[in-house]
Amino acid sequence: MLSENERWLVSYYRASEITGAMFFGRIAKMQRPGPVQADLTQHFADEAQHARWFTECMESLGITPLKLSFAYQDDYLKTAGVPSNFMEVLSITQVFEKRILHTYAKHLRVAGTPTPVKRTLQRIMRDEKWHVEWVRQALQDLEPEYGKAHIDATLERHAAADRETYRRFLDEHGQRVEFLLQVKGSAA
Ligand SMILES: [Fe+2]
Ligand SMILES: [Fe+2]
Repeated sequence: MLSENERWLVSYYRASEITGAMFFGRIAKMQRPGPVQADLTQHFADEAQHARWFTECMESLGITPLKLSFAYQDDYLKTAGVPSNFMEVLSITQVFEKRILHTYAKHLRVAGTPTPVKRTLQRIMRDEKWHVEWVRQALQDLEPEYGKAHIDATLERHAAADRETYRRFLDEHGQRVEFLLQVKGSAA
């Protein structure tokens, strides 16, 4: 069984996965055919699949997802600003994917998490690790064009926007996710 707060959080993950799929779908459509577009296509297919796995996970527990009209990315993109080039898209993505991975890893350590939720998180985290990895590689490939120092500074700017977004998320929804925050190493 899922508590009402767990149900809310898994619904929130699901909404963020759908938002991610749509974001990368648009980015993939803008790219010319080639290896980067192929990775982007895999990426948005993964995010759509993750939303589906969360739906199935909730169904298997006999509950329905809540309809949420907002996702983490909405606030994050507002705080970080609209990316002005593909390097900035990748940088925003890298920081966000790490946040997701960190959050799912933390959730996995919450005592008493139902097995279907654990299995779903583990399955998704395999893909999220690949997302972090291909984007890291793609950013590295852009170093000759943008310069490593500029890319690093962009990543730091987006990391600051993410920390600010997360702080606001906790301000707003802290009570709902308290069970998650009690896990060791949950400072960030
Ligand atoms: Fe995902
Ligand atoms: Fe991802």
